[in-house]
Amino acid sequence: MSYLMPTYARQPISFVRGEGAYLYDDKGTAYLDALTGIAVCGLGHCHPAVTAAMKDQAETLIHTSNLFGVDWQEKAGEILCQKAGMSQVFFGNSGAEANECALKLARFYAHKQGKRRPKVIVMDNAFHGRTLLTVTATANPKAREGFFTLDDDFIRVPFGDAAAVQALSGDADICAVFVEPIQGEGGLHTPPADYLKALANICDDNDWLFMLDEVQTGNGRTGKYFAYQHSDVRPDVLTTAKGLGNGFPVGACMVAGRAEGLFGYGSHGSTYGGTPFGSRIVCAVYDALTQEVLDNAKKQGETIKRTMLERFGERGVSMRGLGMMIGVVMPEGTDCSRLVDLARDKYQLIINVTGGNVIRLLPALNLSDADTDLLLDKLGDLIDELLCA
Ligand SMILES: Cc1ncc(COP(=O)(O)O)c(C=O)c1O
Repeated sequence: MSYLMPTYARQPISFVRGEGAYLYDDKGTAYLDALTGIAVCGLGHCHPAVTAAMKDQAETLIHTSNLFGVDWQEKAGEILCQKAGMSQVFFGNSGAEANECALKLARFYAHKQGKRRPKVIVMDNAFHGRTLLTVTATANPKAREGFFTLDDDFIRVPFGDAAAVQALSGDADICAVFVEPIQGEGGLHTPPADYLKALANICDDNDWLFMLDEVQTGNGRTGKYFAYQHSDVRPDVLTTAKGLGNGFPVGACMVAGRAEGLFGYGSHGSTYGGTPFGSRIVCAVYDALTQEVLDNAKKQGETIKRTMLERFGERGVSMRGLGMMIGVVMPEGTDCSRLVDLARDKYQLIINVTGGNVIRLLPALNLSDADTDLLLDKLGDLIDELLCA
């Protein structure tokens, strides 16, 4: 019997060790990890430089609280804001918390504008977390059911459809648009190339905050530090987590432009946000997240997409995503229910399926050429088997 609340459908395996792109079970069997803890261990498991920083900091100072100056937090803030092109940051401990901070910023902004019933525009298929406000912003009805979600505070429109947002122009209650540059949990949906720019312009015209959830797409996942950097825009609010700590729980909400300076003393807080330990890890992660690693993520991601398309395109498989955030879209009607188990048990490959028929690949950004080849072999054989079944 387990004392854990049964909130997850867990696979019948637990891993005891991780190194680079591999996870190991208690018998020493190696599994090629194309999921990296759901886009978290972007530098691979137990990255030596990050682990060394953890060890050193664990022996030096772990936590003091935000009642005092935290030098590592200052440093992490500077590094992150510079890489992200933002001005100020608030550190928390997860993606949901970062997004909660963003949504509070939007409401605070509305309050300053004299709005009485602020609404935020969010998207179909969006995933923003599991706190009450972020689960309301999330689209999945199963995540929301029974929680008396705060539905009046949001307006939902189709993802990728800037005209649907434009149509809401002039609505005096709206204060912000909140969107993922690429939807991860919602099925690896990639919007049209000019989508973010169009949204940014609509926000400019209406004095709304343009807010991006880069919890999953950030920290190099798409081949740039942040996915929005593929377009010619800058958000007012930018959230991230996951890869930011390479496995250590840390999140960040950054501001620039219209959102800069909104929060002051007492506006927001977190006991554990930006500890010396967590902040040192952020610095170590960003030290290791070099241009070479970003370029590798771009290169290997393109190789994976191209190779899979060459092999399976004619059999109805299509590819989407950017960098190392990849969706393999299986033909409509393919039974993908056995896929995760088959990949794990027969091919020692860890993957995930989202949106019913999309194989989600989130490999390490620094995957070697040899491991990319191996991933392609394993995945190719797996898909072959599935399509022939
Ligand atoms: C885009 C996005 N936002 C928010 C979250 C929530 O992050 P966390 O689970 O760290 O609270 C996730 C997690 O999958 C996510 O993908």
